[in-house]
Amino acid sequence: MAYLEKRRIVRRLSCVAAFIGMMFVAMTVAGHSQLAGAASEPANPENEYRQVVISEYGGPEVLDLIRHSTLPVPGPGEVRIRVLAAGVSFTDTMVRKGIYPGVDGELPYSPGYDLVGVVDALGEGVSGFRIGQRVADLSVWGAYTDYAIRPVEHLVPVPEGVDSADAVSLILSYTTAYQMLHRVARVRPGQTVLIHGASGGVGTALSQLGKAAGVKMYGTASTGKQDYVSSLGVEPIDYKTEDFVSRVMTETDQRGVDAVFDAVSVDNFERSYRTLAPGGSLVVYGFYTATASASENTAAGDMLDVGLEFLRWSWLQFQWKILPEEGRSASMYLITAMRDSNPDWFKEDLSALFRMLADGEIKPNLWKVLPLEDAAQGHRLIEGGGVEGKVVLRLAPEPVETVLK
Ligand SMILES: NC(=O)c1ccc[n+]([C@@H]2O[C@H](COP(=O)([O-])OP(=O)(O)OC[C@H]3O[C@@H](n4cnc5c(N)ncnc54)[C@H](OP(=O)(O)O)[C@@H]3O)[C@@H](O)[C@H]2O)c1
Repeated sequence: MAYLEKRRIVRRLSCVAAFIGMMFVAMTVAGHSQLAGAASEPANPENEYRQVVISEYGGPEVLDLIRHSTLPVPGPGEVRIRVLAAGVSFTDTMVRKGIYPGVDGELPYSPGYDLVGVVDALGEGVSGFRIGQRVADLSVWGAYTDYAIRPVEHLVPVPEGVDSADAVSLILSYTTAYQMLHRVARVRPGQTVLIHGASGGVGTALSQLGKAAGVKMYGTASTGKQDYVSSLGVEPIDYKTEDFVSRVMTETDQRGVDAVFDAVSVDNFERSYRTLAPGGSLVVYGFYTATASASENTAAGDMLDVGLEFLRWSWLQFQWKILPEEGRSASMYLITAMRDSNPDWFKEDLSALFRMLADGEIKPNLWKVLPLEDAAQGHRLIEGGGVEGKVVLRLAPEPVETVLK
């Protein structure tokens, strides 16, 4: 058996073992049949379009720009979207490494968790959307392309007067933050929260939305990002040099905080739980440390690390559930799972965020806006750890009529 084939099998087996508890996530992500290119229009030079695809799992260098000569055709219940902006996220780097649960179809395919674009063609039976309308979608994968075919069921209209690069920044990072704050932890004005990784994509969103919700915030970040975190209205804690548990307990007169948002690691979750006030909630939403260190070269072992983290978390959550300390709770948030169970919430919450953006209540920090060709640079920036806020790909100029009020 060829070496590559053996490696592929090892990867598959380890993925299955590692993510056995996470398989429900797989059912929540978009199906690969929605990849642009299933059916296509006749060849015509005007129909050429670009797409960035993962040629093989690995580092940023595996992202290839390819060109298609025919436009994809939407099927029943689908639209074709001319993409204006696509988000670049940490999650895309997981898809690129082949370690994102549920996204492991036959290569090549595009990464890209979210997009904003203009409806360009309607499939049979589509109503409620018109050609020329600007829409947003949480695609999970497949957004790094000039044209995407998407089912209409989760599309959200983008209001006039907002830039597509700003709008796309809200889809994954801000919806995640909004739902964790308001649907899961249900924060109230005057409460106190702890945000881990407050300078990141989701962390920045949590900070801005926490401020809008009137909560007092503490946020962990590395040494060089303390000023940025302060500028968001968050009391910074340098996780490299300080013990965040004792700092939070001291600052809150030993009471603790009402909610903690943590995507770092199970060791961190345990410590975060200790900073909770009675009745407080820990919202877990990722395993950043394990997934960031996973690499293609040692994929099987790394996948097991991520899987073990998940099993440790499940065991911990079980213990906290049967023996809760003073009414404290802990839960895991997954945007795709929540969209599946409550599709209306996704539309309501993203629409609310678009209104806040249009009204100037929030403003995403666009750390870098890159052309599609530079998608690999976007991944390097995120994996290099220097980003404060959001990296976005702008695929086409803003259509004047969609942006001017
Ligand atoms: N569950 C969901 O639905 C969902 C949705 C979106 C994202 N996520 C997950 O959320 C995580 C963050 O995503 P993102 O897009 O915000 O990534 P990001 O923009 O790359 O930010 C990651 C942040 O983590 C911080 N960090 C790293 N190690 C830390 C530590 N030990 N303590 C505190 N902070 C630490 C980094 O801060 P420094 O640079 O200062 O170290 C950085 O700001 C990822 O694991 C992602 O998969 C989950």
